[in-house]
Amino acid sequence: MNNKVLLLQRRPDESFPQNMNFFEIQQQPTPQLDKGEILIRVLFIGVDPVMRVWLSGAKTYIDSVQIGQVMPAFGVGQCIESNAKSWNPGQLVFGVLECAQYCVRKVNKLFKVPSFVEIGDPIIPLTLSIYGVTGLTALNAMKQIPESNRPTQESPKTLCVSSAAGSTGSVVCQIAKRMGYRVVGIVSSEEKVEFLKELGVDECVTYNKCKQNEEINVNQLTQLLKSHASEGIDVYYDNAGEEILDAVIPVINKRGYVLLCGATSTYNSWKQRCGLKNLAKAIENSIKFEGIMFLNEKQKMYDGFAEMVEMVNEGSIKHQEEILLGIEQFIIGLQNVFLGKNKGKTIIQIYDNQLLQAKL
Ligand SMILES: NC(=O)c1ccc[n+]([C@@H]2O[C@H](COP(=O)([O-])OP(=O)(O)OC[C@H]3O[C@@H](n4cnc5c(N)ncnc54)[C@H](OP(=O)(O)O)[C@@H]3O)[C@@H](O)[C@H]2O)c1
Repeated sequence: MNNKVLLLQRRPDESFPQNMNFFEIQQQPTPQLDKGEILIRVLFIGVDPVMRVWLSGAKTYIDSVQIGQVMPAFGVGQCIESNAKSWNPGQLVFGVLECAQYCVRKVNKLFKVPSFVEIGDPIIPLTLSIYGVTGLTALNAMKQIPESNRPTQESPKTLCVSSAAGSTGSVVCQIAKRMGYRVVGIVSSEEKVEFLKELGVDECVTYNKCKQNEEINVNQLTQLLKSHASEGIDVYYDNAGEEILDAVIPVINKRGYVLLCGATSTYNSWKQRCGLKNLAKAIENSIKFEGIMFLNEKQKMYDGFAEMVEMVNEGSIKHQEEILLGIEQFIIGLQNVFLGKNKGKTIIQIYDNQLLQAKL
């Protein structure tokens, strides 16, 4: 069987994301199965900011991506051949798949999509967004906020989130509002503010206003944040890292709490990070930092799925996805994420079958 794949031809350089000519499309034979492996027909893949780190060759929670290797991608697919006990053909699976029509994976790294989701169900692509990587990461992360940092009638609290209009950030905003927080959202530009207002966000801060020569002026952003959160920030959900995190730290109240989810601003310069200048303030104010990693929380992901389906069905959580058709579209999807042009999650439909056409 022929397998259309997208592979890494050379590493991107500083001209990324303007220049995206480092991928190549090829036809390859379908890989053979070893013991404990299944052959997966890839249905949809998600475009995730962390892919930029994978492209640089750095090792993350997956092995580093080599030149000539098929691009890994969070994806959802269907098992079509199995050499693994209790994984049968037909099973829908989710995990780090590949930017390809077919891929082989060891089952110990995969999730089974809950059985109430059937082939053709419009929910399938959403296992890469609201019911998966981004939505359930946000839900589970918010659940681990310590009691002392949660709002009560006597003690209101403010939560700030960066990339607030993004796939993860927009879910954080809505869950935070449900929990009773006053929410401050950080985004690049005014264009995203209207969406944040629709989500019920109380204050919006646009960091492009604090840019000089394409660099964020950290002190200026701190002052802007202070003017939107005069009561200080009790919880900060960080998707951006580096300068934005640095600017938020001085605004965080004593014994505040920071959820470290992502660091998109560092992904394009993984090896040249300049570090946090305001870290001393975090020590002085006894701020607690906690990293979150959805792949380490398999059971929580399963538990969160049904809960999220309920919240979406009752209309209390909004989500946005953009579905592009065909492997080639992955390149434009990745570029858009780093130009901040994505509206929610960008998903690539790989298997071009009417039955599966997503109806969002
Ligand atoms: N820890 C985990 O398990 C886990 C799971 C899922 C996602 N994540 C992380 O969560 C973050 C958000 O992921 P997502 O899929 O929801 O993406 P997203 O927020 O939907 O899209 C990425 C956003 O990042 C912002 N951005 C792009 N380039 C930037 C730069 N150079 N500096 C600062 N911001 C930039 C843009 O928003 P603005 O234009 O508004 O800045 C863009 O829309 C990522 O860092 C991702 O790696 C972590």
